[in-house]
Amino acid sequence: MEKQKINYDELAQQLSGLFDGQRHWLTNLSQFSAFVNDFMEDINWVGFYLVQGEQSLKLGPFQGMVACVDIPFGKGVCGTAAATGETQLIEDVHAFPGHIACDARSNSEVVIPLYDEGRLLGVLDIDSPSLGRFSQADTDGLTQLSNILIQGTDWPESFA
Ligand code: SME
Repeated sequence: MEKQKINYDELAQQLSGLFDGQRHWLTNLSQFSAFVNDFMEDINWVGFYLVQGEQSLKLGPFQGMVACVDIPFGKGVCGTAAATGETQLIEDVHAFPGHIACDARSNSEVVIPLYDEGRLLGVLDIDSPSLGRFSQADTDGLTQLSNILIQGTDWPESFA
């Protein structure tokens, strides 16, 4: 399949419009996951894991099949992104040590940690059934969209 070319600048404008006057975290996380699910081809899961407690992630709003609920920091791709603070662009999840297989169809994945003024809020996780689905351009574009989400939202002190 030819790779989808996405105009992230245009999407950034649309997303800003979607958040106009809307700053509730649950609303905006939900809208964001539906928004990505709508424009991005060849994905089977998009959603959030949110920091809960000191060293754990809890499932947040998403689109796709039911998923693992709790992910400790350092476990799987999401837990690695949370523990290191680094975006994980994984061409083949089966080659990633400790990958957590929530949906057996997933073959590649991108996970972006979300920081608000130095505080880790959680991670954005997107899975695809295709190997190597996500490019560096996708990672950069999704980071751009994530920043709009972070800045356009009032975050609670805790998700617990
Ligand atoms: N694959 C992820 C787990 C979350 S699901 O894909 C929704 C991981 O290894 O972190």
